[in-house]
Amino acid sequence: MRKQIAAANWKMNLTFQQGEKLLDDILGANIDLADHQLVIFAVPSPYLLMTRSEVEEEKNYYTSAQNCYNKKSGAYTGEISAEMLHSINVPYCVIGHSERREYFNESNAVLAEKLNLCLENYITPIFCCGEPLSIREANTQNEFVAQQLKESLFHLSPEKIKDIVIAYEPIWAIGTGKTATTEQAQEMHAYLRSVLAAQYGQSISDQISILYGGSVKANNAKEIFGSPDVDGGLVGGASLVAADFIEIIKALK
Ligand code: G3P
Repeated sequence: MRKQIAAANWKMNLTFQQGEKLLDDILGANIDLADHQLVIFAVPSPYLLMTRSEVEEEKNYYTSAQNCYNKKSGAYTGEISAEMLHSINVPYCVIGHSERREYFNESNAVLAEKLNLCLENYITPIFCCGEPLSIREANTQNEFVAQQLKESLFHLSPEKIKDIVIAYEPIWAIGTGKTATTEQAQEMHAYLRSVLAAQYGQSISDQISILYGGSVKANNAKEIFGSPDVDGGLVGGASLVAADFIEIIKALK
């Protein structure tokens, strides 16, 4: 079975002390994950070492960065490299979140460079894609998201692509409380899998976990995650509340 993942994206929230307590409360629930289930905490950079020390990878709990730069190293004040993340044993990194695409003008080409650096440094990227409301209203979301994959991912070999995690996050559902319907999520996930299959073959495509993100909550996660091509979620607001994220973890199939 494909990896089923509950990924928390804390974004720029919580003090160190609040984050430490949130982790303790979630990990204190002692949820036994099946071999194919993972929980990933994408935390602000200053909290990576703390998170790394708290989670137990042998129990399928992992740490993720929320971004890395698209240069190997050098005079880029304030930036963090994939090599730095690897040097502190961070195994995952979110790449191309819509908020970074918007606020920091991250193009598909720049994201391709970030993906390469993650893979060169043994970091598994969680590659975000998704359309704005205007594209959804024009019903051209399939073309839009397919282009994001083609321009950022399709230079990768089959060997490289199969380990990448993809997160489909319709921008109009992020932070809005307006979740995509189960049908909309399944339709897009199935389409993304077909695009991957056309490029890499069905066998590789079937191995790639595709998460849904955009107003996943404790009361809708079970239905959303129940769709055949939805392999868990990338969760913002609800991941900041221990009781809610615990329920979302339990919703994994
Ligand atoms: O990366 C996940 C995030 O964009 C979704 O946010 O608050 O709608 O769950 P939220």
